[in-house]
Amino acid sequence: MVDVFDLVIFGGSGDLSRKKLLPALYAGFVAGRVAPDSRIYLTSRSGLKGAVYDWLKEVFDESHPACPVEDADLKAFASMVSVVELGLTEGGDDWEGLKMSLACDDDARPLVHFLAIPPGLFTSTCELLGKYELNGKRARVVLEKPLGHDLASAQAINADVGRTFEESQTFRIDHYLGKEAVQNLLALRFSNILFEELWSGRTIDHIQITIAEDLGVEGRAGFYEGTGAMRDMVQNHLLQLLCLVAMEPPARMDADSIRDEKLKVLKSLKQLSGPEIDRDVVRAQYASGAMRGEAVGSYSEDLELEQPSNTETFVALKAHIENWRWAGVPFYLRTGKRLPDRFAEIVIQFKQIPHSPHPGWGNNISPNRFIIRLQPEDHLALRMMVKNHSAKAETLKEVEMNLDVTGDNAVRLGPYLRLILDAARGDQSLFVHRDEVEHAWRWVDRIIEHWDQSDEPPETYQSGTWGPYEAHDLMTRDRREWFHETSHRKAVR
Ligand code: BG6
Repeated sequence: MVDVFDLVIFGGSGDLSRKKLLPALYAGFVAGRVAPDSRIYLTSRSGLKGAVYDWLKEVFDESHPACPVEDADLKAFASMVSVVELGLTEGGDDWEGLKMSLACDDDARPLVHFLAIPPGLFTSTCELLGKYELNGKRARVVLEKPLGHDLASAQAINADVGRTFEESQTFRIDHYLGKEAVQNLLALRFSNILFEELWSGRTIDHIQITIAEDLGVEGRAGFYEGTGAMRDMVQNHLLQLLCLVAMEPPARMDADSIRDEKLKVLKSLKQLSGPEIDRDVVRAQYASGAMRGEAVGSYSEDLELEQPSNTETFVALKAHIENWRWAGVPFYLRTGKRLPDRFAEIVIQFKQIPHSPHPGWGNNISPNRFIIRLQPEDHLALRMMVKNHSAKAETLKEVEMNLDVTGDNAVRLGPYLRLILDAARGDQSLFVHRDEVEHAWRWVDRIIEHWDQSDEPPETYQSGTWGPYEAHDLMTRDRREWFHETSHRKAVR
């Protein structure tokens, strides 16, 4: 399907636009998913130096699109892009100009306003969009995270945006929901009866969700300090993944049904008490260390901070969902920067068999695991025990059944393109409802408030390691281990 739309990227010359949105749109254009008569407007306070073509060339030299950048394609793409010099706090001639450029009689041609700007500017920008009547029938607004920094600020933003745009026009983006493997998780869960019977505390021992990053906070000083991993990653990406794994089958795969089911999960999350937070939530900050043999600085050194900071770059926690399906099944969530590797993965670990019927098999039977890899590659795998063919004695070995979900020639267009196209089509299934955002903040706020009242600073961990000892201990205390730490993983992969 080829999509035609008008897209305004507020914060068009900013980081998100340069690193994610424009490369995704270009790749979509080359792949024939974005029609050449679509228009892309980049707003920028000070405009751009030089021609759009040259600027885009520079942008794509830094943030490579998912396809090669050919001159003819780039020229064609650049001709779709215009730059608008625009302030986001006061209206004026520049806004009149934008309004004129966007004038269109065709109500069926979508107009997407993508707010790739700090949340502090959402209110004034939406007010101006309303004032200049850019919130009509064909308009939708996409809000990039973070949506506030706590429940109160998120509620205020939702209310402010709601004065200009209907909820059906509002698209709160979480780019993790646009990742291919997440789509597959939904497809797999809800189009195969096989999993449904197994998908509960009756057979599942626990679930791990990890988003590990090898980068530090390079270049994001202003944003990260005072935000931290709990607000940056847990409140949104990790809780959204948890919702998708844990939700009940929706009656229909439409936005309302999916979002209702996710909301029920968030409402069922057990609110942790102070002592439970101290015991089950680990926060830590990276110290100096080495990444692939190269010395790297600590968090404070990276941000050139003069005072010690309590901002966490790592969180590991144990959560519980209080409902029939998941009673007694812990969900271990973990994210961190400057870890040895970059990957995102959901591991569903099944229970041990109740009894080993063959003496030769011994006790070395690994529990079955279903692994959903979101990055760097899309990968679904089921780990099972089979007879060890080469061994003389009757022994078992673990094998991995890989499900090829990508196909050989699949071009990875990336989550942002998918989500922009969904927003243009008005499909909210992979966007977050305001109630979800607010419930997620309610849960996370409790933990952050507890930390704020505590005298304890975060733990530290050496850059290039898997986080502090306490994160390892969170598992071993429960006689479990993080999947990357299991010896079986290496043996099979
Ligand atoms: C963003 C966070 O939402 O997600 C970043 O603000 C993080 O801190 C990024 O690095 C990770 O996204 P991805 O898709 O690269 O795993």
